[in-house]
Amino acid sequence: MFEKLSRNGKRIQSADSLPARTSPAFESANDMKILNFGSLNIDFVYSVDHIVQPGETIASTGLEIFCGGKGLNQSIALARAGADVSHAGMVGPDGGILIDALTGNGVDTSLLRQVETRSGNAIIQVGADGQNCIVLYGGANRMNDRDYVDVVVRSFAPGDILLLQNEINLVDDIIARASAHGMVIALNPSPFDSAMTACDLDKVSVFIMNEVEGEQITGRRDAESILQAMADRYPEAEVVLTLGGDGAVYQYAGETVLAPAIPVPVVDTTAAGDTFTGYFLAARMRGETPAEAMRQATRAAALAVSRPGATPSIPVREEVLAGL
Ligand code: RIB
Repeated sequence: MFEKLSRNGKRIQSADSLPARTSPAFESANDMKILNFGSLNIDFVYSVDHIVQPGETIASTGLEIFCGGKGLNQSIALARAGADVSHAGMVGPDGGILIDALTGNGVDTSLLRQVETRSGNAIIQVGADGQNCIVLYGGANRMNDRDYVDVVVRSFAPGDILLLQNEINLVDDIIARASAHGMVIALNPSPFDSAMTACDLDKVSVFIMNEVEGEQITGRRDAESILQAMADRYPEAEVVLTLGGDGAVYQYAGETVLAPAIPVPVVDTTAAGDTFTGYFLAARMRGETPAEAMRQATRAAALAVSRPGATPSIPVREEVLAGL
């Protein structure tokens, strides 16, 4: 994939050079706050020999319960990466453990609300090869209403970043209101479904997605075609495409930064993408170059893959920097 991009004449940025054009998304770097409006889940993680097949019943060899949710994981990754992050969203009466996980990591939870509906949860199978599959129950994550969205968005200033995933309701409305308020929108379109197609993605300044989501957005299959389609459709956006064991690619204004994956023993891939997202954005918010942000994010994701669970697998910044 990397050789192909080079052969096709794309401008490949060396890890130490500065980009010719800088994205306006991070022009107030060092002076911007980040709001993560996202899910909070209780993860029930079953260890299995292989992911269960249709009609099959298998015994798991272990059950562990972790805090998770793409939103919560990304907030914790941002905080462990050194960012000043606020998390907005809904939890149920059982959500104390989720709030504690955020506050324990230094995330501002003052905008979180508690509702009667139980918190979101996820049933996760992790196979012997470290790969997973996930079934979500939205619960409180789907109880956001427009008044709450208004209160949350108005708590931030134009130029601040809004990070979204797709595990809560009203994502289209949140994008519209935050954009009208002048916030910079970063989107991890995961999991991709019809709610994403209802969103005005022209308002997104930073996309961080994997190849599956890239195909769902663009209808293209291979990484190179996905990146080309994203550049054609969203020429003003920074795009990061993660490629699992093949690393990740950053693209903006005709420049491409490639970050090869760091080989590690794969224990559990859960939250590796969330870790990548948090570390990439935290570095960009500090004004670090895309190349540096990609290096840190790739290293952080590799560490996450080599450990079990969602939030417990997310490294702290010192570990990530030590490995660079
Ligand atoms: O990205 C991993 C997360 O996806 C898990 O923590 C689970 O809750 C689901 O949201």
